[in-house]
Amino acid sequence: MAQKKILVTGGAGFIGGNFVQFMVNKYPDYAVYNLDLLTYAGDLTKHRELEEENNYFFVKADIADREAIMTLFETEKFDYVVHFAAESHVDRSITDPEVFVRTNVMGTQVLLDASRKSGVTKFVHVSTDEVYGELDFDPNTFFTEETPLQPNSPYSASKASSDLLVRAYHETYGLPINITRCSNNYGPYHFPEKLIPLTISRVLNDEKVPVYGDGKNIRDWLHVLDHCAAIDLVLHEGVNGEVYNVGGHNERTNLEVVKTIINTLGKPEDLIEFVTDRLGHDKRYAIDPTKLENLGWKPTYTFETGIAQTIQWYLDNKWWWEQIISGEYQNYFIKQYNIK
Ligand code: NAD
Ligand code: DAU
Repeated sequence: MAQKKILVTGGAGFIGGNFVQFMVNKYPDYAVYNLDLLTYAGDLTKHRELEEENNYFFVKADIADREAIMTLFETEKFDYVVHFAAESHVDRSITDPEVFVRTNVMGTQVLLDASRKSGVTKFVHVSTDEVYGELDFDPNTFFTEETPLQPNSPYSASKASSDLLVRAYHETYGLPINITRCSNNYGPYHFPEKLIPLTISRVLNDEKVPVYGDGKNIRDWLHVLDHCAAIDLVLHEGVNGEVYNVGGHNERTNLEVVKTIINTLGKPEDLIEFVTDRLGHDKRYAIDPTKLENLGWKPTYTFETGIAQTIQWYLDNKWWWEQIISGEYQNYFIKQYNIK
């Protein structure tokens, strides 16, 4: 019998997908359940090798479907829940906010109810630094766990709402929870609507890369496998009720990121096309990860080693992203950017 049963929601997406593979390999004595609705952002081809493993299971379900989720939890009696499932793209939240509230807020509440009623012993809610809002360009300012929540986009507002529900289920019902708030991830299986994989895939096809505004906005980048290790640590060692920020001090302007990719691939910088800025575009994110470091975590990738590994992965795995950028993605791209 498996030592622990763990439910990973959103395990067909980018970070959840990497986390599922990380856990199946690291803990052969755990039973790892991947629950996912398989929206446009979810795909199971990334797990084709896992199908051979006897500690991996897939469940297709909507986290906001109360009846299905309650029944599943009552039947399976999970020990742990690690909750990634969400609508995750800021631009999509600007054009269509409603599904963000349904999935990110209502879906989280359904999972909290099911976890409480079935006796889950740890619920890790995977959140984002975007709930803190934005920082100015003073390099000595950082988000800490005490920074007030001040989300600016419909996406980050929906994530902040779910964070507050998770906190409330701990305070009210004593549900054993942790909340992690990570900076921007990058790495294998990153969906090419997001800046880094969008740039790599378009530059490889000699297509223009849309950079919002003047390209000076700053993000703090973390390799997805360092994020997975952080969540694993919080799951097993996190103090109940606590929030942990996750980040590796890798601040870069968007223009620096795009130019690094273009130069690594030996392509011309005139592929950059400055386009209309994102509405409410947050200026800068930067994480102070001291609390998590004190728990025993430190990142293994610098931005330089991580981006080199990631670019190589996209070169070696065209089969994965080429299937994704064909079809419906083309319609999304034209609607979003109005460029070919
Ligand atoms: P993603 O968009 O790549 O994957 C989301 C997954 O959730 C997909 O597989 C999708 O099918 C699934 N999903 C969506 N709605 C669902 C529903 N109603 N029921 C069940 N499954 C559903 O997202 P990601 O970038 O991997 O982000 C995962 C989590 O991490 C999110 O909660 C996000 O807020 C958080 N996060 C992301 C980043 C980042 O840089 N990408 C950073 C910090 C935190
Ligand atoms: O900070 C964590 C967050 O990082 C996560 O919570 C989100 O789920 C994740 O999508 C990401 O949000 P961002 O909005 O920061 O990521 P995105 O890749 O969309 O954009 C990164 C930066 O690049 C941002 O400043 C906007 C800019 N950008 C993005 C796109 C898609 C462009 O200039 N051009 C683009 O085409």
